[in-house]
Amino acid sequence: MDEEKEELRKFIDAAHKLEFLTEDIYKKDDIYGVYRFSIGKLLGKGGFGYVYELKDKKINASYAMKIILKSHSKFKIVKDEGATQTKLNHSNIVTTNFLFDTCDYVAIIMELAEKDLFDHATKNKFVWKDAAKILKEISSAVSYIHSQGYAHRDIKPENIMKCKGVWKLIDFGFAVLSTEKLKSPCCTLDYMAPEVLEVANIRVDFYLGQPTDIWALGILLYELIFGKLLFYRKSYKQTYEAISTETVTFPDTPEIPENVKSLIEKMLDKNPKTRITIEDVKKILDELLFEKT
Ligand SMILES: Nc1ncnc2c1ncn2[C@@H]1O[C@H](COP(=O)(O)OP(=O)(O)OP(=O)(O)O)[C@@H](O)[C@H]1O
Ligand SMILES: [Mg+2]
Repeated sequence: MDEEKEELRKFIDAAHKLEFLTEDIYKKDDIYGVYRFSIGKLLGKGGFGYVYELKDKKINASYAMKIILKSHSKFKIVKDEGATQTKLNHSNIVTTNFLFDTCDYVAIIMELAEKDLFDHATKNKFVWKDAAKILKEISSAVSYIHSQGYAHRDIKPENIMKCKGVWKLIDFGFAVLSTEKLKSPCCTLDYMAPEVLEVANIRVDFYLGQPTDIWALGILLYELIFGKLLFYRKSYKQTYEAISTETVTFPDTPEIPENVKSLIEKMLDKNPKTRITIEDVKKILDELLFEKT
């Protein structure tokens, strides 16, 4: 393992010297021919860095490698991403194989996922039971994360990926300790809980991360079943108003059982103090999926 790690370190240092962090470097694969590891295609580009396929030629395996540049002006927001992800070990969380923390960047080398739920959700419609099954997998990851004292804070279809048939949570860039009194808004507006908006408007002093994960899961469950974002509106301001003031309403079709509606309502309780916990979400999902409907 150490030998493998050393080889990877050499690769990353060399690759960095060659300034592979440019838009078109994945086309220049042959430059790295002398190394055991070579860079494959660009898998994704996020707010703080790039995710490349990393090929291990010796054992013919592939990883995903996320590179986060320390020079990024907002690096301090994601500075603990790699360390947090490495600590979390669960079947519904993407496995981290190696973490490199160098002077200039952090490289997270992890298992290679196939596709994300966003891609899947835009091409497929989910009957409520299939949506509940996906939610059960992700709730299992969230329950584990919460039990380890963290909150994820960026749950959305783009951050849920399929690995060998299993849905897994990725992207721990916004993860925080659950005890942290949070004062700045984060995550995508459509999945943002009302208390996060309250903090942004200085109506409350702080919010806690874990209840915001439950809210995002509630928005996700609704989206998977009805194919739309509950509070999506034309403008930021209208979306903001809807999240803060509107109650949950359900379309007439597809028809879903009352207890599924009730679960969504409990997850989208505007008061974070009375919002359902992840343990109770899991319990209700188990009951729903167990019933023969
Ligand atoms: N393990 C993986 N396997 C395959 N593709 C991945 C993997 N991890 C990330 N990706 C791809 O890269 C994209 C960006 O990754 P990620 O979500 O971690 O970064 P991000 O959204 O930029 O994160 P941040 O919010 O920290 O900037 C993902 O949406 C996905 O398409
Ligand atoms: Mg992401």
